[in-house]
Amino acid sequence: MNITVINGTPRKQGRTGIVARYIAKQYGCSMIDLSEGTIPLYTGEREQSELKVIQSLKQKVQEADAVILCSPEYHSGMSGALKNAMDYLGSDQFAHKPVAIIACAGGGKGGINCLTNLRTVSRGVYANVIPKQLVLDPHCFDREKDTLLPDPEVLVKDMMKELMVYAEAHVSIREKLIQP
Ligand SMILES: Cc1cc2nc3c(=O)[nH]c(=O)nc-3n(C[C@H](O)[C@H](O)[C@H](O)COP(=O)(O)O)c2cc1C
Repeated sequence: MNITVINGTPRKQGRTGIVARYIAKQYGCSMIDLSEGTIPLYTGEREQSELKVIQSLKQKVQEADAVILCSPEYHSGMSGALKNAMDYLGSDQFAHKPVAIIACAGGGKGGINCLTNLRTVSRGVYANVIPKQLVLDPHCFDREKDTLLPDPEVLVKDMMKELMVYAEAHVSIREKLIQP
């Protein structure tokens, strides 16, 4: 299975990057890292679709069997960096594709608004967001070791298991609905 994880934090030292890197390493996923800051603000101008970085973004997502969207919760929504990246994408990349969503929050009972925002925007590109979803608070991370602590590791494992089942089902869904 070709699974792509998107690190949606604009911050190079962000916690969201820790979980995205963890998933990429642990589950052999390819990663799109928005903290590299190479994706320009979407303007809709034709020249933008000719940029290598945009072509690569579209191709990676389109070729993926499933996608994991990881975002920090910023002001009760997903990061601007991830929403901007999503604006370059659409149903060509996402239609019926299984998508898992993870929010990294500040620890004050936040995160759910980001998840709801991710679910709404994913619906907008016709993706199939799986039922399991995760909020990871600061206590879930070992920043020094740049990894997750054991309890959140189990949560991610359960989510990945569910995502893989949907990714397998997607093979048949794709044949029947996308390439009839
Ligand atoms: C601009 C900004 C807005 C934030 N808004 C929220 C919020 O609405 N809810 C919340 O739980 N945490 C909020 N936080 C805290 C972040 O979600 C938390 O620090 C998270 O780890 C950020 O992910 P990052 O480290 O990958 O950037 C905010 C942080 C910033 C910088």
